[in-house]
Amino acid sequence: MLKEQIKTCFDNAANTYDSVAEIQRKSAKVLMDFLDDRKISSIIDIGCGTGNVSLELYKKYPDAEYTFCDISENMLRIAAEKFPKASKQICCDAENYEFDRSYDLAISNLSMQWFSEAEKFIERIKTHCKLLAFSTLLNTSFESYKKLFKFPPTFKYPTLDEILKITPQQYAIKRYAIELDNFFGVARYFKKLGACLKSHDNPSKLASKNSPIILEYDIFFAVV
Ligand SMILES: C[S@@+](CC[C@H](N)C(=O)[O-])C[C@H]1O[C@@H](n2cnc3c(N)ncnc32)[C@H](O)[C@@H]1O
Repeated sequence: MLKEQIKTCFDNAANTYDSVAEIQRKSAKVLMDFLDDRKISSIIDIGCGTGNVSLELYKKYPDAEYTFCDISENMLRIAAEKFPKASKQICCDAENYEFDRSYDLAISNLSMQWFSEAEKFIERIKTHCKLLAFSTLLNTSFESYKKLFKFPPTFKYPTLDEILKITPQQYAIKRYAIELDNFFGVARYFKKLGACLKSHDNPSKLASKNSPIILEYDIFFAVV
């Protein structure tokens, strides 16, 4: 999917994201468990969205300096407004941004599955931080949905083998699921999250599928 489309979808969803981001908040809490007791003074939250991860981090590191990075300016604005202290903001495509400094911690929760080449990005951001903690979706996600509908080709999540090439110090995989009433419920849910479903099956086929749909999120957590 084009970066411009991704940006527009997340810009449009910034005000509704928190109302449906239950799994994303759970994932942010799990990511916290990967952090040891080392001193952290500077943090960059990559693909920060509305700032859920940084709000968790703030409980542990209230004195750290926070930088929010997101491709969507509306997401960045909400993250900055929600956050209890002043933050720096970088509105950019993180994959193509030249980071000009280093951070004690780079963290990214459920954002890198939107990147074209997440593994390359991980290698690069590692040179700008002492510790990298991230979570991303795996290709086994949404398997029930994929069986029912043609999955948009733009959603190409990494396989476990691909993501393990980054040789994490520590990793875990967890599955979360949410049940929606039918396809239209799924479409509404993804829209509120900012996950656009542009290329899809034809609408008449979709309308005939009026039974509950479970969305499984297979989330890979790692510290590098
Ligand atoms: C599913 S949301 C996750 C938000 C947040 N990390 C959380 O835990 O709730 C994905 C976020 O990644 C951002 N994003 C997607 N592609 C990006 C890119 N190339 N560079 C920076 N941010 C990006 C989106 O704008 C969106 O805010």
